[in-house]
Amino acid sequence: SGAASSLQHACEPSTYSDGDYADVDWDNLGFGLLPTDYMYRMKCFKDGKFEQGQLSRYGNIELSPSAGVLNYGQGLFEGTKAYRKENGCLLLFRPDQNAIQMKIGAERMCMPSPSIDQFVDAVKQTALANKRWAPPPGKGTLYIRPLLMGTGPVLGLAPAPEYTFLVYASPVGNYFKEGLAPLNLYVEDEYHRASRGGAGCVKTISNYAPVLKAITKAKNRGFSDVLYLDSLNKKYLEEVSSCNIFIVKGNVISTPATNGTILSGVTRKSIIEIAQDLGYEVEERVISVDELVNVDEVFCTGTAVVIAPVGSITYQDKRIEYRTGAYSLSRKLYSTLVGIQMGLIEDKKGWTLEI
Ligand code: COI
Repeated sequence: SGAASSLQHACEPSTYSDGDYADVDWDNLGFGLLPTDYMYRMKCFKDGKFEQGQLSRYGNIELSPSAGVLNYGQGLFEGTKAYRKENGCLLLFRPDQNAIQMKIGAERMCMPSPSIDQFVDAVKQTALANKRWAPPPGKGTLYIRPLLMGTGPVLGLAPAPEYTFLVYASPVGNYFKEGLAPLNLYVEDEYHRASRGGAGCVKTISNYAPVLKAITKAKNRGFSDVLYLDSLNKKYLEEVSSCNIFIVKGNVISTPATNGTILSGVTRKSIIEIAQDLGYEVEERVISVDELVNVDEVFCTGTAVVIAPVGSITYQDKRIEYRTGAYSLSRKLYSTLVGIQMGLIEDKKGWTLEI
């Protein structure tokens, strides 16, 4: 397979035929797991160095019952996407930024982390090995999920003696069942996502299960997802369960500043830059929930979510509605970001990597 030689791999444009694609109903992709062909694995032993990684068939993995990740949640994940271009090549978007995010997270969680090159090479190899699962242009993306976990055995609370970096992939469509339709968010003031001094600013697996309760409660009441407030004052916007949040008033776009409880996010950072390039003023600052009554637009950003327009936010039984649709700023930012990610708009920043 071409995957083994991916380090120096340059894509040769080709026209994919039906036979080159996995048997998937490409028109009905959601954000669910479709098992693909290969995964990539790389182990790290006590010396803190990662061994040569390799691809193997995708499947279940064997873990010690006392693995650090299972017992104490010593784990991190990332998400990045490969778009298939019309010329048959795959386009990755800023995988080096995910590598950096994982490095920062690993430091917080007392774990060794792969180098930027090791991370990006693993993402490339996983994408190429599963190329037939990358949806046709315009139908979705190949979502790539790198994991870093303490796989060595522990009993007392301590960093695990051994780590595994694992990358798998699945074709995906839209994250929300709403598709590209506006989200209806619910502001949660009982449960919080992160607290000061915690690990809200890194992508540890332990930030996600605790919000399932709030998501379930909101979904049962007909909402799309939950917007969390800071745990100290119960007043300032933080994040939505799986994405960052932005508000728009006139020509000014604002997003909560990353003060330790908010993930800085590859899509969040990219949107800040794109908006500035388009001439908008972008502020990273503290945003009070009270401001929500007085803004034109709200949208969410994330790798899985991309950019999702928010049609309404409900806070203490009051529902506030926002501009959405063809003339919204979020639509303009979406087209620009996805245009770059798909290779349809010139990438002047060196954000994309063709493989
Ligand atoms: C992503 O945007 O890739 C994420 O990691 C969020 C996840 C909850 C789907």
